[in-house]
Amino acid sequence: GRGVRLAGTGLAVPDRVLTNQDLSRIVDTNDEWITQRTGIQQRRIAAGDQTVVDLGADAMREALDQAKIEPDQLDLVILATMTPEMACPSSAAQLVSRLGAVPAGAMDLSAACSGFVYALNLAAGLIQSGHASNIGVVGAETLSRVVDFTDRRTCVLFGDGAGAAVVTADDNPERGCLYQTMRSDGDRWRELYLPRHEGHIPVDGAEGVFSGNFNTIQMNGREIFKFAVTTTQAVIDETLEKSGVTSDELAMVIPHQSNLRILEAARTRLKLPPEKFCINIDRYGNTSAASVPIALHEQRTEGRIADNDYVLFLAIGGGLTWTTSLWRF
Ligand code: ACO
Repeated sequence: GRGVRLAGTGLAVPDRVLTNQDLSRIVDTNDEWITQRTGIQQRRIAAGDQTVVDLGADAMREALDQAKIEPDQLDLVILATMTPEMACPSSAAQLVSRLGAVPAGAMDLSAACSGFVYALNLAAGLIQSGHASNIGVVGAETLSRVVDFTDRRTCVLFGDGAGAAVVTADDNPERGCLYQTMRSDGDRWRELYLPRHEGHIPVDGAEGVFSGNFNTIQMNGREIFKFAVTTTQAVIDETLEKSGVTSDELAMVIPHQSNLRILEAARTRLKLPPEKFCINIDRYGNTSAASVPIALHEQRTEGRIADNDYVLFLAIGGGLTWTTSLWRF
């Protein structure tokens, strides 16, 4: 197969910052609780008319600039999001049109927080097999529109933003995605869901989870926490074992930013120093599908990833879903 490379990355976050202090004036919470339990200090909130298409387009333009690739060279754009503007058309199709990339293929990918890493895996496979040469992969969310700001158990966690990467073919066949996993367990959908109407409320209860406001994220925090810690450990072990790459050899891990304590558990498992395990949840909160590409862009921009480095992407989210992608840059 051909080699695959991340030729450019970009990020776009809304200007408006919502601090823990701000939240403490909206719900019964405080900075100490949020910081200790989650590691989050602030998150970004989209302006009233700002959509995943707006944020995604800004992030993608930066990625294209960096990659020195014109929009019309894109074969496909995959937009990972759980907050698309409409069910149809896809926000990806709107994004392609906004970028001036018509007639590139377009699809939204729904895998909650795992979405961007799923999309990266698909892009790598399509390029490696020769079916595409340039793919735009975007993670974009306006979660503040689907957060219940009367529910302190969830509203402190989430934020808005977008990140993007241009994935291209590369002459060096050693470069690219070395191993990938994409998993789900739909039996456990109740742990994190976004009900659209009454019929979506679990019949057998899921006590204390549903707060009564439709179109808002419902989450069983404790169960997700346990699931995240155990699943992350198992999938990291599998990815390293099957790829033959040791944790010592990893230059960087870029995980979905769900909760500082979940992340610290994974870092400890890998026995990695803080500088090799990317954490930016303090500044953005959990931005679901946007968190991995935002972190990726920051790491690349700060020069922390070099050619030939082994980089591990890792995410878990609603579905439930979980995924890894191990790259040689
Ligand atoms: N401020 C103050 N107190 C709060 C808040 C808040 N914002 N939220 C909850 N509490 C209270 C609870 O009411 C509870 O009080 P009680 O004991 O009087 O009932 C107490 O704090 C403890 O609540 P728990 O829910 O047990 O707190 P926990 O330590 O589990 O932390 C948290 C909650 C942060 C949500 C944690 O469970 C977590 O991070 N889970 C994972 C969530 C996650 O990562 N979700 C997304 C993953 S998937 C994806 O990314 C989409």
